[in-house]
Amino acid sequence: MSEKLVKKDKAKTAEPPKKKRVMVNNLNDLQAADWIKETISVYVQKGLGAGHEDARIEREHPAPFSFQDVGRLVSFFTKSGGVVLDPFSGVGSTLKACAILGRNGYGIELSKRYYDLTKKRLKEEVDSDLLRNIDQKVIRGDALKAIDKFEDDFFDLIVTSPPYWNILHKQDHKVRQERQAKKLDTKYSEDTKDLGNIKSYDEFVSTLSGFFNNCSRVLKPKKYLCVIVSDFRDKSKFHMFHSDLAMKLEAGNYALKGITILYQRHKKVFPYGYPYSYVPNIHHQYILILQNAKEE
Ligand SMILES: C[S@@+](CC[C@H](N)C(=O)[O-])C[C@H]1O[C@@H](n2cnc3c(N)ncnc32)[C@H](O)[C@@H]1O
Repeated sequence: MSEKLVKKDKAKTAEPPKKKRVMVNNLNDLQAADWIKETISVYVQKGLGAGHEDARIEREHPAPFSFQDVGRLVSFFTKSGGVVLDPFSGVGSTLKACAILGRNGYGIELSKRYYDLTKKRLKEEVDSDLLRNIDQKVIRGDALKAIDKFEDDFFDLIVTSPPYWNILHKQDHKVRQERQAKKLDTKYSEDTKDLGNIKSYDEFVSTLSGFFNNCSRVLKPKKYLCVIVSDFRDKSKFHMFHSDLAMKLEAGNYALKGITILYQRHKKVFPYGYPYSYVPNIHHQYILILQNAKEE
């Protein structure tokens, strides 16, 4: 009798079976194994190789990033059919990656020459079938103004590499000398709206960070901004550009979620400083990964 009672009580207090939690991936289309690879905080830069037929247009620009590297960010931070903005789009590496990956890409570029080269690049390097159902649009103009044309919450991702202030202009820059010898561009433009032409470093960082903070409006809530930058020297002063920018964005409309090092394995090295002082061969860039702090 008492045994039966105990059993009955147990049955009464037994918990209902737990419902299986369904995990929904709202961020991307990746499976677990790829997810892990993409969260390792070092990327090794990929490229087509200087002699590749499809590297010709890219080489016309003094500071492109590889479409394969930006493609990793597009794949991780958007789903198929997502909408991506590159506000300093150069010769369209982000748009090429978007076309290949089935995302809608928008680029903004100040220079007519790079705008024209982007159109040419999409035509020559991207299979026309890939451009049929998915849009790649490049707008010619000043990103600081053109951004106002987009509606609120328009983009799933903003990914870009802005000018690194005036580093392309430096006379003593070895790469600049090499480009001059090959008659390639050593500066983006003479345009006063070109952020590379801003007079002082502090004004440059505050203009650029003000722009990115403004971009929060067109980026969906909790979606990501990825900014690829490098630190650099101005004469004997070393600027921690990645850190100066990240701090201003955190103080503004974003939460810093991580920094990935992009190791530039194939970059040329020079004996800077030899034989009297330490001057680094800067062989990496930083990918600042920030999340829009804006709530739904
Ligand atoms: C580092 S490059 C970007 C290169 C690009 N990621 C690519 O792979 O071709 C920066 C670009 O920003 C452009 N730029 C500078 N100021 C700008 C502005 N105010 N609005 C739009 N583009 C601007 C420059 O002409 C340059 O092409």
